[in-house]
Formats: sequence, C-alpha cells, structure tokens
Amino acid sequence: MSDLHKPNRRAVLAGGAAIAAGSAAYAGAPDPLITETRDWAKSLGDGVDATPYGLPIRFEDDVIRRNVEWLTADTISSINFTPIHALDGTITPQGCAFERHHSGAIELAKQDYRLMINGMVDRPLIFTYADLERFPRENHVYFCECAANSGMEWAGAQLNGAQFTHGMIHNMEYTGVPLRSLLEEAGLQTAGKWIFVEGADASGNGRSIPMEKALDDVLVAFKANGEALRKEHGYPVRLIVPGWEGNMWVKWLRRIEVTDQPVESREETSKYTDTLADGRSRKWTWVMDAKSVITAPSPQSPIAHGPGPLVITGLAWSGRGAITRVDVSLDGGANWQTARLAQPGRKMAMSRFYLDIDWDGSDMLLQARAMDDTGYVQPTKTQLREVRGLNSIYHNNGIQTWWVRETGEAENVEVS
Ligand code: MTE
Ligand code: CO
Repeated sequence: MSDLHKPNRRAVLAGGAAIAAGSAAYAGAPDPLITETRDWAKSLGDGVDATPYGLPIRFEDDVIRRNVEWLTADTISSINFTPIHALDGTITPQGCAFERHHSGAIELAKQDYRLMINGMVDRPLIFTYADLERFPRENHVYFCECAANSGMEWAGAQLNGAQFTHGMIHNMEYTGVPLRSLLEEAGLQTAGKWIFVEGADASGNGRSIPMEKALDDVLVAFKANGEALRKEHGYPVRLIVPGWEGNMWVKWLRRIEVTDQPVESREETSKYTDTLADGRSRKWTWVMDAKSVITAPSPQSPIAHGPGPLVITGLAWSGRGAITRVDVSLDGGANWQTARLAQPGRKMAMSRFYLDIDWDGSDMLLQARAMDDTGYVQPTKTQLREVRGLNSIYHNNGIQTWWVRETGEAENVEVS
C-alpha cells in the first residue's frame, strides 16, 4: 500500500468504529440481507415507461400533506400542512407543499389565462400566458409562510408534530418575470403608490401591496422547482412576494390595479390583523420574522436508535433577509450551541441546519433559535406573549420546544 493510502484508511477505520458504537457490528449472526440473493435481484425491474411522470416509491407514502380536521368547517376554505418532519435539504417538492385556499383550487388552462394591468398606468394591458413568456426571466428560491403558521400554539402547546405546528410553509425555486418589468411595460404613473392584486378564483383573495415592494423583488411566476406550478399553487401564474406573509402571494393571478392608496378589501380588514392584549389591532404586518424549528427529532420523527451519534436537524428562515446563525439547546434554553448551516443563508429562503451530537440517552428539551442578517434574534414564546398577548392567531414566531424522552419519542411542550 502506498503512503498516500495509509492516512485515508486509518481515517475510514476510525470513522467506522465510531459509527459501530451506534449500530450493529457484523461479527454476530450472518445478515441474510447481505448473504442471500433477494427477490429484487432474481428478476428484472420496471421498464423506463412504467411511470412517465414519477411518484415517490410506495414505502414513502406517509410523506404527505395532512390537514387538521377540526381546524376548518370544510376542506374548500381550508389549509393542509407540509410534512417538514420527513423532508431534508431545503427545497419543498410541489406535491407535498402545503395548500391554502379560500374558495378551493381552480383549474385554469394556459390558453384561458389573462393578466390585466389597469389603474394608474399610461397603457392598460392584457397579457396572455404566451406574452409573459417573452419577458426576461429570473430564478429565485423563496419561502412562502402562511401568516397563520403556528397560530394554534398561541395559548400553549397544542399540536403534536412539526408538520402541524410549523408546516404552513414551503420553499421552492421560482421562475418568472419581475413584476417591475410588466408595470414598466404598462407605463406606471408616478402617482401610483400601491397595487391591488387579485386571483381568478371565487375568493379573488384581493390584496394591496405598497409600490416600493412591487418594484423591488415581486415576481410573476409560472414555474416552481423547474416545472409548471401545480394547480393547487396557482397554475398557470401566481404572484411571489418574497419574505411577506403567504396571503399576499396571489394564486391564479388575474388582475393588478395600480392605485394611489390601499384598497381595503373585506378580507384584508377583517382578517390578517393581530389582536393585542388591550384589544387594539396590529395591521400591515406583512414581513415574516425570523423563525426556526427542529424537524427531527420531533413528535412525528422520533429517534429510532439508542444512545450515540445523533443528527439533530431543522429549518430556519427570515422574511427580512438571510439566516446567519442557528443555535440549538438540548436543555430548554439554558445552554446553547451553534448549529452548522448546510449552506450559507440566502435572502428570504429557507436554511437547513444540523447539530451532530453524541446523545447520552437522557431526555432533552430541544429548541432552535434563528438569527438573521439584520441582527434579529428569534424570541421565546414568553417574550412574544409579553408584547403581543394571547389573542393573536398570526405571526407566531416563538421558539418551539420538543421534549425528547429516553425512548426517543418526542412531544410538543412549553418551558417557562
Ligand atoms: N390566492 C388566491 N387566489 N386564493 C387564495 O385562497 N390563499 C392565500 C395565498 N394566495 C389564496 C391565494 C394564502 S392565505 C396563502 S398562505 C397562500 O396563497 C398559500 O399558497 P399555497 O396554497 O401555494 O401554499
Ligand atoms: Co395564508
């Protein structure tokens, strides 16, 4: 063996020994999965045309969106949740990205698609889908979080799983045209200070967005993760409003009206405000503050092994910028360690973090705390309630706690 190989081999052996502490050594009884020819090697597999559009293998059929039945009266004006406890990396596959509709997901064909820009513009315009495809395109990864994410947790720990406490979020790579380009094409007038955007569905989901944001980074998107938007995410065209609450991300986008003041739609005045302890309301809280959650271990993703090497992982995001640091506590916030970010944080996109520990098998109160490039630090639930009271639904970005037991099972709890 050459000298070059020696250090490598030692390193591999050392690594192997460390892992062996937490897994089966192969000194004992022969493992038939290694020693015997299994069925899948005795016959041929599926041909290439078996699934023209591939789906996950059946063994993964529990990695699905789920809803909480008692939350809404029906499934039309409802919401379901991304299975974040079972995903890794940062990109959410469209097929399991949460859905939120006020009047159901509609089917709108590209050839029937029209986008109108009217109001305070020199040339009111109507774009077809093909028209939009002729504008210069951009690609960006952004998270979309419903303002109600974690909303059921204001009064105390309630839902047992990261999917349900934090799953009103997805993070995708969008392809689209900057809204700025379309507004310029229509001849935006200087008196135009707001846009009112609405969708083609029955609810319309009309929202007002200040012009500063509209001209900054808002995208008129038609692809997500490289392929056409799914019906439930607004096919064929939706609005992307980076870092801002999900309700402004209008799906099935049909009209943009330039106005000199916000249009107070019924939806906007009655919902998406935060009721404070003294009864006053916070409104226009569009930006989603920095937040994080440990996705595994978590109630739906218990530890499946004994003491030894344990990968703790989770997601962090901020509507104000990029995630710069995530700390993890094993003891309910008494001590913190800085986790490893899988990649440098990107603006208004999810970050994946890992903390690789040697678990001693004792119970843990797991928490994560996100920080962004504005210096903002994710608050504890107690700190958040001091300012916001208990009457809110929206914008709960408090630190989540999972109590992980010696058995590896985890539970949604709160520490005071
Ligand atoms: N756009 C239309 N046209 N109709 C809707 O009901 N729901 C909004 C927003 N855009 C909605 C809409 C809300 S509240 C959220 S959180 C996001 O879409 C959810 O986007 P998703 O279903 O792609 O996850
Ligand atoms: Co929403």
